[in-house]
Amino acid sequence: MKIGTPLTSTATKALLLGSGELGKEVAISLQRYGVEVIAVDRYPNAPAHQVAHRSHVIDMTDAAAVKALIAAEKPDFVIPEIEAIATAALLEIEESGGCTIVPNARAIQLTMNREGIRTLAAEQLKLPTSNYAFATSFDQLKAAVETSIGYPCFVKPTMSSSGKGQSMVKNAAQLEEAWKYANEAGRAATGKVIVEAGVDFDFEITLLTVRALDSNGIVKTHFCAPIGHRQEAGDYRESWQPQAMTETALKSAQEIAEKVTAEIGGLGLFGVELFIKGEQVWFSEVSPRPHDTGMVTMATQRQTEFDLHVRAILGLPVSTDLQSCGASAVILGRIDKKSVVYHGLEKALAVPKTEVRLFAKPEAFISRRMGVALSVADTVTEARANAVKAADLIEIQ
Ligand SMILES: Nc1ncnc2c1ncn2[C@@H]1O[C@H](COP(=O)(O)OP(=O)(O)OP(=O)(O)O)[C@@H](O)[C@H]1O
Ligand SMILES: [Mg+2]
Repeated sequence: MKIGTPLTSTATKALLLGSGELGKEVAISLQRYGVEVIAVDRYPNAPAHQVAHRSHVIDMTDAAAVKALIAAEKPDFVIPEIEAIATAALLEIEESGGCTIVPNARAIQLTMNREGIRTLAAEQLKLPTSNYAFATSFDQLKAAVETSIGYPCFVKPTMSSSGKGQSMVKNAAQLEEAWKYANEAGRAATGKVIVEAGVDFDFEITLLTVRALDSNGIVKTHFCAPIGHRQEAGDYRESWQPQAMTETALKSAQEIAEKVTAEIGGLGLFGVELFIKGEQVWFSEVSPRPHDTGMVTMATQRQTEFDLHVRAILGLPVSTDLQSCGASAVILGRIDKKSVVYHGLEKALAVPKTEVRLFAKPEAFISRRMGVALSVADTVTEARANAVKAADLIEIQ
């Protein structure tokens, strides 16, 4: 494997489609290995723009704009960070050769639409999932819930992320509201929703799974220690590592993750979301990229999930070793405001074995993720308490 010199004709170039807080960390990892980084987002001064060699602002759902930019930049790697991307353009670019879409264009297409990944996981790979059905009208939805899915259930747009358009429905009276919400808030008007039976899990995990080359050039699958997390309003608030679980459940989780990532293929890190009850494990969904709950690895692992993604992509060896118990707690915007000011960093950093990352987003919104607190400790309980304490000490004005 070889790496050129950035900003010269020999440069090894990576183009990030999506430049949020996860992209920013991927950019920093790439920079450390001497890769030329081009960061792209839909708005200027996005987090990864601020640490890249160059940045661009385009509508990433516009196939022509994506193709034109990639033709002009000629990157070796295109690394999608978000789901809302013109996937048809990526398929075309991949086919024409000359650059690697990470992990591959089909993965991006499959996982941006819940129908694609759910059908693949449940029907083709026969992985355990919640019962589910798709509906393109309210009547269809109602019939599916009444005949097979039952209550409580989750209604979600087929294309959305971070809980957008998603509702938990406890009874028949709430169903129509959920149908309307899913149709309004979905990312693209597919007119289709998925309804899933509610899984009564003990806890949920993200199993970070890495497909990387070994010294013989063979793809090997590696697993990080399971990450537990707490979701609120469809978005994560706290995560911790390791999540305690039985050997049997962990083995099942790893088998599921291995199967789904092997089918998706390519090199890189994947966030496999699973529900656990006792020894039973259900597949929920998978991100073919670093996962928000995996930010905890910035505290707990020598190779963070971002380093692992970058190393796997570049064909470098990886280690998923856990160094310490740890936790992350998100710092949310509590106002809608541009150019906010952060207070209390000195107090937050006085919490033992704690770090804070501010994402430096140009604008805060209520509930927008603006930063994260990261703590290590002897126990997960202590790390969680410290991370939450530090996050609460940051005031955004
Ligand atoms: N069938 C289900 N049974 C129980 N809980 C569920 C179910 N579906 C979703 N949830 C809960 O809602 C959360 C978000 O769901 P999901 O991951 O499908 O949405 P998302 O919009 O893709 O979120 P993100 O992009 O943050 O991963 C899950 O992590 C889980 O806590
Ligand atoms: Mg999810």
